Amino acid sequence: MADSVSRRVVVGISGASGIPYAKDLLETLRRVTDVEVHLVATEGARRVAADELDLPIDELAALAHVVHTNRDVGAAIASGSFRTAGMVVVPCSATTLSKISHGICDNLLTRAAYVHLKERRPLVLVPREAPLPLPTLEAMVKAAQAGATILPASPGFYTKPKTIDDLLGFVTQRILDLLGIEAARAPRWKEG
Ligand SMILES: Cc1cc2nc3c(=O)[nH]c(=O)nc-3n(C[C@H](O)[C@H](O)[C@H](O)COP(=O)(O)O)c2cc1C
Repeated sequence: MADSVSRRVVVGISGASGIPYAKDLLETLRRVTDVEVHLVATEGARRVAADELDLPIDELAALAHVVHTNRDVGAAIASGSFRTAGMVVVPCSATTLSKISHGICDNLLTRAAYVHLKERRPLVLVPREAPLPLPTLEAMVKAAQAGATILPASPGFYTKPKTIDDLLGFVTQRILDLLGIEAARAPRWKEG
């Protein structure tokens, strides 16, 4: 894989609470990496972002290098021949998680996730829901069996976080680690 290709990632944002996690990831990718970010957001994401962000989601999208329309199932990231280093869906709603676990490709985000599973590339799903009902738990198992990594948006406290930024950084760091992207966003256990 050519270097520029391996530095490409897809960031999907769906309509779960936790849009600030997506914002933190996009800001971190811009600030500390040379990764080419392809962004796709659902209508649900736009709705939740209106409540959770102090800026329109389109301004958030400006942090990405390429912004795709969720309706455009003919976009580059809909094809397995368009190479990437991986994809993350953050936050990942129960709806989107369920679709991905069943191989449903009814929009660009779910199609891109399907492509990452079929091409055996890293796919990180960051659900936020709580508590979790059986259908969502089962969808998590199915997605994990298909090759996805389920990374709940549940930051650890062993690093003694003091701010919301610290909590966001914890999750961002785990996402970047799982995608194999070097970035010092948060302290590590016993690494100083
Ligand atoms: C303010 C707000 C917060 C929401 N939080 C969550 C959530 O944390 N998890 C979840 O699965 N759905 C949540 N939802 C519901 C989803 O947005 C909804 O099911 C939507 O259809 C998901 O579609 P999408 O996956 O295409 O974005 C929330 C909705 C709103 C308006």
